[in-house]
Amino acid sequence: MNKKLPAAEAKTLLAHARDAMANAICPRSGFAVGAAVRCADGTIVTGSNVESPTVLQSACAERVALLKALSDGQRAFTHIAIIAAKRPAVPPCGLCRQMLMEFAPELIVITADAAGEPRQRPLIELLPDPFL
Ligand code: THU
Repeated sequence: MNKKLPAAEAKTLLAHARDAMANAICPRSGFAVGAAVRCADGTIVTGSNVESPTVLQSACAERVALLKALSDGQRAFTHIAIIAAKRPAVPPCGLCRQMLMEFAPELIVITADAAGEPRQRPLIELLPDPFL
């Protein structure tokens, strides 16, 4: 199991997620999300949610960040930070939990509380008894 990050590093990862949120494409929901994945080698890869303007489909920020990192050749991930403009704490949706679990079963998920303080939980707590 990966370890929780020191609070300052968790805040830095949340800051990367917040920066990525600026690139969100969310014309339908108006709900901008940013995510930042920390790879095992320390590389940080970010993503924002992307909604198709006309067809009912969207990619969550978490999966965008994960897919970008995988596509870059990264294969091991330790932490993911997630932030949204309209709600401080955004836990990953069910689809993202499953995909994150498939590629990073020991991942730590970092969200922010209302005061902006990081909350760190193992992904397995958010998706117990996963199908793998
Ligand atoms: N969304 C994410 O990007 N991550 C989450 O954890 C929850 C939801 C996106 C999907 C959609 O573009 C918008 O937020 C509203 O659901």
